[in-house]
Amino acid sequence: MRLSTDKFFFLSFFIFSLLFLSATARPFVLVLSQDDLTDAAPSAADDDGASSSTSDWDEFGDSDTKREEELDPGSWRPIFEPDSELADPATDDEAMYYSGVTKMVTAVSSGDPRLMEEAAAEIEAAAAGGYPHAQSALGFLYNMGVTRERNGAKAFMYHHFAANGGNMQSKMALAYTYSRQDVSSTFLSLCDILLNWWSRSEIEVQVVVTLERLYLEILWKYMYDKAVKLYAELAEVAVNSFLISKDSPVIEPIRIHNGAEENKEALRKSRGEEDEDFQILEYQAQKGNALAMYKIGIFYYFGLRGLRRDHVKALSWFSKAVDKGEPRSMELLGEIYARGAGVERNYTKAFEWLKLASRQQLYSAYNGMGYLYVKGYGVDKKNNTKAKEYFEKAAENEEAGGNYNLGVMYLKGIGVKRDVKLACKFFILAANKGQPKAFYQLAKMFHTGVGLKLNLPMATGLYKLVAERGPWSSLSRWALESYLKGDVGKAFLLYSRMAELGYEVAQSNAAWILDKYGQRSMCMGESGFCTDTESHQRAHSLWWQASEQGNEHAALLIGDAYYYGRGTERDYERAAEAYKHAKSQSNAQAMFNLGYMHEHGEGLPFDLHLAKRYYDQALEIDPAAKLPVTLALASLWVRKNYENSFMVDMIDSLPDVFPKMEAWVENVIMEEGNATILTLFVCLLTVLYLRERQRRHAVAAAGAGEVVPQPPIDLVAPVAN
Ligand SMILES: *[C@@H]1O[C@H](CO)[C@@H](O)[C@H](O)[C@H]1NC(C)=O
Ligand SMILES: *[C@@H]1O[C@H](CO)[C@@H](O)[C@H](O)[C@H]1NC(C)=O
Repeated sequence: MRLSTDKFFFLSFFIFSLLFLSATARPFVLVLSQDDLTDAAPSAADDDGASSSTSDWDEFGDSDTKREEELDPGSWRPIFEPDSELADPATDDEAMYYSGVTKMVTAVSSGDPRLMEEAAAEIEAAAAGGYPHAQSALGFLYNMGVTRERNGAKAFMYHHFAANGGNMQSKMALAYTYSRQDVSSTFLSLCDILLNWWSRSEIEVQVVVTLERLYLEILWKYMYDKAVKLYAELAEVAVNSFLISKDSPVIEPIRIHNGAEENKEALRKSRGEEDEDFQILEYQAQKGNALAMYKIGIFYYFGLRGLRRDHVKALSWFSKAVDKGEPRSMELLGEIYARGAGVERNYTKAFEWLKLASRQQLYSAYNGMGYLYVKGYGVDKKNNTKAKEYFEKAAENEEAGGNYNLGVMYLKGIGVKRDVKLACKFFILAANKGQPKAFYQLAKMFHTGVGLKLNLPMATGLYKLVAERGPWSSLSRWALESYLKGDVGKAFLLYSRMAELGYEVAQSNAAWILDKYGQRSMCMGESGFCTDTESHQRAHSLWWQASEQGNEHAALLIGDAYYYGRGTERDYERAAEAYKHAKSQSNAQAMFNLGYMHEHGEGLPFDLHLAKRYYDQALEIDPAAKLPVTLALASLWVRKNYENSFMVDMIDSLPDVFPKMEAWVENVIMEEGNATILTLFVCLLTVLYLRERQRRHAVAAAGAGEVVPQPPIDLVAPVAN
């Protein structure tokens, strides 16, 4: 009978999912140990030269063979950058999809739940027509619970269909889901859907069969396998979209908050042409300052600091700078001619500019020249020996690109004897300098076990880093632009979308916006604006994901949420778990909280020694925590020495007051830097103690002959330390 087999799967799947539970909350850290390296069996290093794809080369040219629309189909770019060429929609579904997304964005901008309903209806209609990008957007709505009941299983399903239809953002979302090993719970609810759909129409049976197949696949296969494959594909697209031979620009999402506060410094630097610093720089450049010209050129070339990328302006500034003999602009001109970015490609000119730059001791230019020699572009003849010499020159002078290209030469055996181990070493050198393509190569080595010991979680983590720099990261630019314009609702929506794709910074940004701006974040729920419960849940889940990915502030907030029962049920044990997680990242606050929990036996065993150790550690890490720690130590001391006295009761009644007091202590006292309050607290304790002693005296006198406890001479001792 079918039903019974289903039951069986259900059960075994559940066990399977438990196995993974322990592995979920580990943050990703790239630490290569000797162990990773030594075990590379050289025999496994047979030549796989057939796979030498163009993306392996740290090269200039290939990004313009594919346009961004092809790399990230269904992108929301036409909505946020309408000036970029807007092709007429090819199909009705496409038209409906873009109309739907536009309405969705307008709805959160103006706070119009009705419009959101309309948007969702259009997106759903386009999705029903099988249009993959609409399915992706619908997956997003289900994931968030916007105008639909929140449903991870349905979200997963739509992303699955969309990914099969070629939507890259859904691939990101799926890869992230798989890598979280979060599919287990998703699939348990998929089970429900499956059973609900029992014996329906032909199409639905088909869907059920598909789901079942998927279900089995997941059941029996290691989920990293899925994650690693998707991320590998995405990382390759990302690597191909990188612009130039030097490090690709770090267009990482900007963290708009700093702990609980707005990150004013980062925001100020992202205001593009409106930033005062930028205006000053521009003024200096106009006055003829070559360095300023170069900097502005760079900002436009990469689209940094909140500026839109503009190759024409970049070229014009670089050209002015080279007239003044500015060497880095020469190198950039070399790149621009090699890529044909905004100009006609001309390798001869590229080589000339690079050579000029290299003469000015600009060693990264050697890397570009080496590349032209490998390819035989703009030079007399291909010459690998010469290329290698140039790469070495760059590498010797701390140029990551040189290390990377040497790595590729050894990996492929170009101009040298193939040596995977050596290649790996060069990649590690380059990766440590932040070369994203080197991350990609190392990920491939972990993935295939060639050069490095097979390690799928590591491969997944590295691929993810690279994949997150793909063209879909432009979401973060639009989000930040919206935020800076004060359009918090739009920013929240965009960060939420990125959160779904697995960007930690976006997860914490979205959660922070929700916490900070409340109703202004235009959080849309199942019907109309989010209810309190819905916002709490959404913030909680966003913080949770960020915390899983190693965000210590998030871990701390999660701990607090469980501790105080905000947005979730009060659960001291989970609170302790979250604090421990934050503690593993050396968070003083988390250590303090752990100490506090040990002291009170909440969620953690009652253990005063451990409590003291945590307090001490907190102090070690963050000297600014001195006051709260001192207070805590004082109360700990009382607890230790006066068990069962009324003072302990008094301290036990503090927890409700405590968080407030702590915040107050931090804000008021730390800033004013005086110890008045501390003195008062100690006085209070002393008075209380003396009263207690008097009482005991009285009792003792009544009982006659009892030994009177000695007054604690060192009452202030823990404070004084
Ligand atoms: C490329 O640049 C060189 C040197 O500046 C020049 O002689 C040549 O005509 C250019 N080629 C093209 C196709 O424009
Ligand atoms: C390649 O370059 C090396 C070193 O610069 C030189 O000795 C050699 O003759 C060149 N080979 C060819 C084929 O030009």
